[in-house]
Amino acid sequence: MQIKVLEVGARDGLQNEPNFVATQIKVELLHQLINAGVKHIEAAAFVSPKWVPQMADGLAVVQSIWPDAQAQGVKISALVPNDKGMQTAISAGVHEVVIFSAASETFVQKNINCSIEQSIVRFQPVVQLAKSLGKRVRGSISCCLGCPYEGEVSVATVLKVIKQMQVLGVDEIDIADTIGVGAAKQVQALMQAVSHVFPIERVAGHFHDTYGQALANVAASLHAGVNVFHSSVAGLGGCPYAKGATGNLATEDLLYFLHGMGLQTGIDLSAVAQTGAWISQHLGRPNGSRAGAALMAKKSY
Ligand code: HMG
Ligand code: MG
Repeated sequence: MQIKVLEVGARDGLQNEPNFVATQIKVELLHQLINAGVKHIEAAAFVSPKWVPQMADGLAVVQSIWPDAQAQGVKISALVPNDKGMQTAISAGVHEVVIFSAASETFVQKNINCSIEQSIVRFQPVVQLAKSLGKRVRGSISCCLGCPYEGEVSVATVLKVIKQMQVLGVDEIDIADTIGVGAAKQVQALMQAVSHVFPIERVAGHFHDTYGQALANVAASLHAGVNVFHSSVAGLGGCPYAKGATGNLATEDLLYFLHGMGLQTGIDLSAVAQTGAWISQHLGRPNGSRAGAALMAKKSY
């Protein structure tokens, strides 16, 4: 069985880096990932540079990788918070637009400066325009397993936001554990509930690994029928509006797990491990992937 892996390292992974990562490094990172066989990349966020300065060069990043992506059949996505972001997404030529809200009022307010209801209204013209241009649309929902400000989040709230996004016409729903607090039993129950309101083959698990639960949550999601997962090379990342949240599940760890389960991804784990080591060294951080670090250590014998 084929699993769709969406690489979010260049966006979710880098957005919280304190020092600006040069455009050419972001571009090199994406080229390496494409060469490793990654077919779905979230390359940028067309958000306000005042809110997230690290993403200010998104247009240049996407334009630089576009020919390579096109030649290799790679789909590029980017976060779009409003009409202005949508105009940049059009100039960039992304294949997929990601609208993003949350299952927590406080988080949405801090993240995109409006209420959940207002975010849905704001996204309406964005989705309409994206669809009229033949672009795919994903709806990302933060804090599905818990909120850094409000604590527990109910399944009913998650389902309500899914339904609102479904009415807008999104093609795929991302269930995000922004602060990585979910545990497998809770995740499986949530994904099962989600499967009753949205086609489960178009639901993605976006797990941050703050509490070390992300892989267990992938396993729980697989049981519930999910076969799309997001990850970031070397486990890079964190959200500027979720203090203490660490990076996404590392791509190397996800690939090691999925391949070990006999599932296919089409991605070369060894090549991603090299890229993980390179970007970690460049950023001056320890490699956040256990599998990546282990594979690189084995190579150096
Ligand atoms: P606002 O301040 O209410 O917006 O922010 P505004 O319309 O009043 O505009 C303020 C200024 O921003 C204006 O500039 C606009 O032109 C500019 P000024 O006139 O002051 O010079 N502006 C923009 N510039 C470029 N691109 C745009 C854009 N929009 C306005 N698209 C806004 C509202 C939504 C813009 C802001 O809150 C924002 O950009 N938020 C983004 C926050 C963000 O990127 N968070 C991280 C990504 S979400 C995430 O990581 C979670 C996820 O991984 C899932 C999970 O793990 O949970 C997806
Ligand atoms: Mg995230």
